[in-house]
Amino acid sequence: FEFTPENIEKAKVFIAKYPEGRQQSAVMPLLDLAQRQNENWLSKEALEYVGNFLDIPYMRVLEVATFYTMYNLKPVGKYFLQLCRTTPCWLRGSDDLEAVCKNKLGISNGETTEDGMFSLLEVECLGACVNAPVVQINDDFYEDLNAENFEAVLDKLAKGDVPPKGPQIDRINSAPEGGPT
Ligand code: FES
Repeated sequence: FEFTPENIEKAKVFIAKYPEGRQQSAVMPLLDLAQRQNENWLSKEALEYVGNFLDIPYMRVLEVATFYTMYNLKPVGKYFLQLCRTTPCWLRGSDDLEAVCKNKLGISNGETTEDGMFSLLEVECLGACVNAPVVQINDDFYEDLNAENFEAVLDKLAKGDVPPKGPQIDRINSAPEGGPT
């Protein structure tokens, strides 16, 4: 693994944002850059490369990469589903979304479909609790999900379409009388 010339330039821009002598702090954006270049996962070679790039021991890079769920240390599907399981999403039906993954895609937490299209990872709060339950798919948030509209999102992705991201319901017209909108 090595950065493309374009990503080397991007890496230099990230590194320049940190004060003199603190360039190693760029490890997180560089890991993200490496992951995006490497089909959304970080191989051992990629971790070593980032370590060499920043002059950090491999073990320190591995510590960072294993601490955050946003770094994948094994290959993931084309669509990486991060299903929020924290209390607000759980109270609003994340169990139903987990069941869709199991019944429709045949995958549980940490698994990838045989065709390599979908991977599932259960994660903690994604910071969008107001529209719970939420699933992050690659870089996009899909919110106000239920089993039905989540299946519709997955169907569109499987067909190569791009479903509209964000809330999957009409929040204004579906709000209870006098309730929040
Ligand atoms: Fe799911 Fe916050 S609890 S986004």
